[in-house]
Amino acid sequence: MQIFENTKIRNIKLNNRIIRSALWMNMADNDGRITPKLYKVYEELAKGGVGLIITGYAMVDPNDRPNPGMMGIYDDSFIEEHKKLVDIAHGNAAPIALQVAYGGSQTFHPDYKNTTLFGPSAVENRVTKITPKEMTKDDIKHVVKMFTNAAVRAHKAGYDAIELHGAHGYLLSQFLTPFCNRRSDVYGGSIENRSRIYVEVIESIRKAVGDDLAIMVKMNHDDYMDEGEGLTVPEAIEVAKILEQAGVDMLEISGVNETSGKGIGPARTKIHKPALQSYYLEPTRKIAKAVNVPVILMGGNRNYKRLQNILEETSIQYFSIARPLLCEPDLVNKWKENTDYKPMCVSCNGCYRKGEVGCVLQEKLIPLSP
Ligand SMILES: Cc1cc2nc3c(=O)[nH]c(=O)nc-3n(C[C@H](O)[C@H](O)[C@H](O)COP(=O)(O)O)c2cc1C
Repeated sequence: MQIFENTKIRNIKLNNRIIRSALWMNMADNDGRITPKLYKVYEELAKGGVGLIITGYAMVDPNDRPNPGMMGIYDDSFIEEHKKLVDIAHGNAAPIALQVAYGGSQTFHPDYKNTTLFGPSAVENRVTKITPKEMTKDDIKHVVKMFTNAAVRAHKAGYDAIELHGAHGYLLSQFLTPFCNRRSDVYGGSIENRSRIYVEVIESIRKAVGDDLAIMVKMNHDDYMDEGEGLTVPEAIEVAKILEQAGVDMLEISGVNETSGKGIGPARTKIHKPALQSYYLEPTRKIAKAVNVPVILMGGNRNYKRLQNILEETSIQYFSIARPLLCEPDLVNKWKENTDYKPMCVSCNGCYRKGEVGCVLQEKLIPLSP
């Protein structure tokens, strides 16, 4: 297997195995409308050669806005503007997936106080200090419906895939996390029960959109919380098998429940030494071995030859990259020309410090590391 080869996942035709991992850009307007700047970001990415673009997360419900400046897909009026985004990607030969999220108590939006935020259980979020409303079965149905409606709109807009944000401490992943999920009904307790909401969303989407839209899930391999509080690797392997059974087309493996309060996230810093790159390799390798569905390795992928080795030596089939594509949206084209090319990104997370997300290196605010 080669990084630069054509593959097909459901109806997505990928020219190579490098995928742009989702990046919230803080560039949509207050209602989640796509701005000219945001179109430009995706145009540059599409021209840059990635095998598949995953958009930044889009809100599925106007009452649930995990972050300002995120895109919306919460009613039919969004279909046209997303169609334009899809056309930009397809016009530059890049397939594109829409990432959708429901935040719940993990919201960083200043206006959250005016809304009811859902959670599997009414447990105070250690970071935001928000105690969500424990969801009734009807609330769960409502959320499943919101995701399904969003997928139908994405399908109408022409997206190749939808990716459910089921990682990092947002609502879906809170169901997998024992600290957040204290339920004793069919949505709590065993790993099968804790995965149930994912299964219901996947099955409901498939029923609503038919066969051609691919369904992807970004999930944690470990919540990195204290013992007994978080999802663990053996459980994540079970989740992956359950999602495969439910019909998911691709799994992107992330990590960290940011509600842990430990101040860590999935975007690690200081990973310029080769040994620190591709930092979720071991758990992702195990998950990829346990399922047949294609698995994407995410986090700190920076060296082409290392990725090619991983492709040859493990069952991992795809690699996703986020921060380096802020610096260099054409990184994949550069690798195509020269597999020794070293990306500029030094994983400083300066991209988070700006109002609008972008690379601080590009603006020469801090010097490039040697
Ligand atoms: C500014 C910024 C915004 C992000 N937005 C999202 C997002 O919308 N959805 C998501 O699943 N992950 C998001 N992430 C996490 C990235 O997708 C990725 O998992 C992480 O940056 C690690 O990959 P990397 O080392 O290639 O950057 C974001 C990360 C950063 C730095």
